[in-house]
Amino acid sequence: MTRKVRKAVFPAAGLGTRFLPATKAMPKEMLPLVDKPLIQYGVEEAKHSGVQNIIIVTGRGKSAIEDHFDVSFELEHLLETRHKKDLLATVRAVSDMIDVAYIRQKEALGLGHAVLRAHELVGEEPFAVILSDDIIDAETPCLRQLLDVYEFYSAPVLALMEVPHENISAYGVVDAEPVAHNGGRDRLYRIRNLVEKPKAADAPSNLAIIGRYVLTPEIFTSLETIQPGSGGEIQLTDGLKHMLRSRPIYGYKFEGKRYDAGDKQGFLQATVELALKRHDLGEDFRRYLKDLKL
Ligand code: G1P
Repeated sequence: MTRKVRKAVFPAAGLGTRFLPATKAMPKEMLPLVDKPLIQYGVEEAKHSGVQNIIIVTGRGKSAIEDHFDVSFELEHLLETRHKKDLLATVRAVSDMIDVAYIRQKEALGLGHAVLRAHELVGEEPFAVILSDDIIDAETPCLRQLLDVYEFYSAPVLALMEVPHENISAYGVVDAEPVAHNGGRDRLYRIRNLVEKPKAADAPSNLAIIGRYVLTPEIFTSLETIQPGSGGEIQLTDGLKHMLRSRPIYGYKFEGKRYDAGDKQGFLQATVELALKRHDLGEDFRRYLKDLKL
């Protein structure tokens, strides 16, 4: 029987150099999109996908993340005495949301290394990985879409997206063959090979890995075995390639819109589009944008 995925790992120990100086004293995972920190979007996605336990792999200077998901007695008390009921509910919802555990990654040695740090907290069971830079706006949460595939095949599943050739070398890229699934042939793939950040000319396809993974615990052995790869780091993509020798891995071209909030352009796009979708802000903001007459 397929074991249920109960835990999601959030690597959050990166230095956030692309957002300096904003990230000098603040973790990039806490940058707000409209009024919610990046990482909260991912945590909510996990929760809405049925994953209850969150493991955040943090580094130095990341205590704001822990404070964010913790209870803030002073703030709650203040809001209570000022009768700010709605705000109080919003603040409480964050700390009540989910069970969070933290583990330190002392050195930023790569995504694969970050996932390996979570081994003890994950144990020998399947788990999800969410990269909070990748914001995915979807009717069915992206992780839920992957879990549906995982529950069918009992095998690891990666989120895939077609990206333009000129951008492909920013991603892990797969060589994959389409598999018939749910009466269709257009979303599910069986992975044949994976390469982390290939040169555009060497990319095996235009199918990039996006930051959602459902993994089985064999990945830990693979991550312990492999050598540093692209950028001198232990890469999750390389770990997956190693694991592919012994078991099938699937890829799923998810439904939904993905924003690369780890990039300035992507961050701005996500801010604008998510604000436009908001019931409390959208209408006025749309009017404002139209008035700009760009
Ligand atoms: C990471 C992964 C890469 C993946 C990407 C998705 O790269 O290593 O395989 O395609 O996330 O966002 P990063 O963007 O952290 O360099």
